[in-house]
Amino acid sequence: MTQILFPNDEGIVSAAALLRAACLVAIPTETVYGLAADATSEPAAAAVFAAKGRPDFNPLICHYPDAAAAATHVAFSPVAERLAQEFWPGPLTLVLPRRADCPVSARAGAGLPTLAVRVPAHPVARALLAACGFPLAAPSANRSGGVSPTTAAHVLADLHGRIAAVLDAGPCAVGLESTVLDLSGKAPRLLRPGGIPAEAIEACIGRLARGHTPGAAPQSPGLLASHYAPSLPLRLNATHAGEDEALLAFGVPLPAALVFNLSPSADVAEAAARLFAGLRWLDTEGARRGLRGIAAMPVPSHGLGAAINDRLRRASA
Ligand code: TXA
Ligand code: MG
Repeated sequence: MTQILFPNDEGIVSAAALLRAACLVAIPTETVYGLAADATSEPAAAAVFAAKGRPDFNPLICHYPDAAAAATHVAFSPVAERLAQEFWPGPLTLVLPRRADCPVSARAGAGLPTLAVRVPAHPVARALLAACGFPLAAPSANRSGGVSPTTAAHVLADLHGRIAAVLDAGPCAVGLESTVLDLSGKAPRLLRPGGIPAEAIEACIGRLARGHTPGAAPQSPGLLASHYAPSLPLRLNATHAGEDEALLAFGVPLPAALVFNLSPSADVAEAAARLFAGLRWLDTEGARRGLRGIAAMPVPSHGLGAAINDRLRRASA
């Protein structure tokens, strides 16, 4: 049984007690729901990989109450300090070198010399981090390779019975995962587009390198070809919907048997917030009605549109 906790004082105290006992609790963040565990506990991190079916070479993001707490575990460069100042708390994850005495479990960090750290903006996540007093390792709270959850119901659809509790604080405001930046190499590198547009980061620190360093470990799952995948096949840049296709619309919808409109007013931030809920709904409802696939209308690439298109490409691979 997975317990549903409410985001009041009592719920936070219960969640913190479960986490302290090395149990798993799904928690709201401004991006997506995370599957949280005590980052300093080896068995708790192992349980996260098991519950998600996540390959153990994929490291987890560690969540901290503030930049000062993160700086006790990883080494901040001047660029990292500037970014933390500008974008934390918020949907930006920084990959930085671990300090020698960093207590985060090797399991959580997949044995790497770097650690991905982030300070979430969601008030419930912040209250929980304050109550815990240890960092929370939290990947998105979905089965590995599937669509990230933006509601507690999504979490339960994937993980019911596999985790101790979910802290239900309603839908996530941003709806896409954090932007992941690698600051451990020579030049800042964008590993995953996300909730902070790359343009905003470049306005702060200058041009970013993109993608993975060729041949370097690890492969971020955010960079794996197939990820965020619904079970119905997804077709991109649709200019029509077939009779047996559901439609993921943006702006004025095309005619189709089943439609989920990301944003009737063609607003990319609204589309980002609704993307994962839309994919999940079209997937179940489309399959129930015997449809064979999902056709996605094009979304412009400005602002959060870049991260939306990244997720759609991976969902279609
Ligand atoms: O918004 C988010 O980032 C959400 C919420 C819960 O915070 N979390 C999330 O975690 O999306 P996850 O595990 O689904 O994605 C984390 C990404 C993966 O692509 C992982 O490979 C990468 O960050 N990552 C983690 N540690 C890394 C490291 N040391 N070096 C390179 N990439 C790393
Ligand atoms: Mg994920």
